Amino acid sequence: MNYNFSFYMPVNILGGNNALQNNKNIFLSLGKKCLIVTGKTSAKKSGALDELISVFDELDIEYTVFDEITENPLTKTCCDGGKVARNFNADFVVGIGGGSPLDASKAVCVYATNPHIINDGIYTEKVENEPLPLVIIGTTSGTGSEVSGVSVLTRENGRKQSISGKNYYAKYALADAKYTYSVPYRTTVSTALDALAHAIESMFSPRADFLTEQFALISIRMIYPILEKLSKSEELPTEKDRDTLYFASLYAGFALNKGGTGFPHGMGYALTEDYNVPHGIACAVFIPQYLDEAEKANPTLFGQVMNAINSDKESVKELIAQLCDLHLSIPDEKIQGYVTRWETLKNFKNSPTDFNNHDAGMLVKSLFYTE
Ligand SMILES: [Fe+2]
Repeated sequence: MNYNFSFYMPVNILGGNNALQNNKNIFLSLGKKCLIVTGKTSAKKSGALDELISVFDELDIEYTVFDEITENPLTKTCCDGGKVARNFNADFVVGIGGGSPLDASKAVCVYATNPHIINDGIYTEKVENEPLPLVIIGTTSGTGSEVSGVSVLTRENGRKQSISGKNYYAKYALADAKYTYSVPYRTTVSTALDALAHAIESMFSPRADFLTEQFALISIRMIYPILEKLSKSEELPTEKDRDTLYFASLYAGFALNKGGTGFPHGMGYALTEDYNVPHGIACAVFIPQYLDEAEKANPTLFGQVMNAINSDKESVKELIAQLCDLHLSIPDEKIQGYVTRWETLKNFKNSPTDFNNHDAGMLVKSLFYTE
């Protein structure tokens, strides 16, 4: 067995019950003024925002809330958040939410200290000044953004694009699964599928190594039985299952942080941009094909995945298709447009076989083309 691996993940994860209360002293080390970056709902609904505010009141930390983050956050919105942080003289930022607010909060920290970077400039301009320190509080079980140096934003032209590197890691992640307890059924399914996709895609990526595989295997083993339950009834998961899903999403995040994503994520962005499909479902709908490619490329590792979940490929494919429950009608010219657009998609290179943009076009056609 080849045990070679390398792993870099500088986020200090403070996890478990009441992680926020138990670790509140970290805020004192970060300063006296904080910009809280959130969306409109989950930070409040989860209870995380109120809890944070009461801790700040207790610690005498001044704060202001920037709650403009929408799903698939725009670079412009994050740039605006950076300006708010500057005008408020924020010492640090806390991002609360699912993937969108968390990814956005990473970008806000960069914009805040680098006023020369405007909107889409974040993809091209040099980060000259150290970003503001960031604390992340996750409220969904999917993104793994807590433990990755990746931020996925939407460009001014409406296209999603990721940016990554040392400037995009949080300093701390306060990981308490209780904030995920209020997530509704459909979002629970979508985010769990996102975490599963992270684990599977990163595991068979050319950048994967021994440790990535272990993290991904643990994650898949934790998520899969809960997906089976979710497929049988629309009952919300128990708190125990919620806890399992949340920590599985972090394991998938560890794997993702090293292996990156393959073609399901690259292709999934288009379904989100053009058809408003939730991110997890948009990516997972391509996982069945990815499993075929994974099996061709590395049958031994593929066998380990099937053993871990005590299932077979066809059952996994059926389960994913059932949970995605996605019925789109995509016209031929649009599919041809995707084929052209995906000529330069990097995710194909980060996939286990030579599956390319033409294969991707045929896959979209087989799934979503109706005359
Ligand atoms: Fe994802």
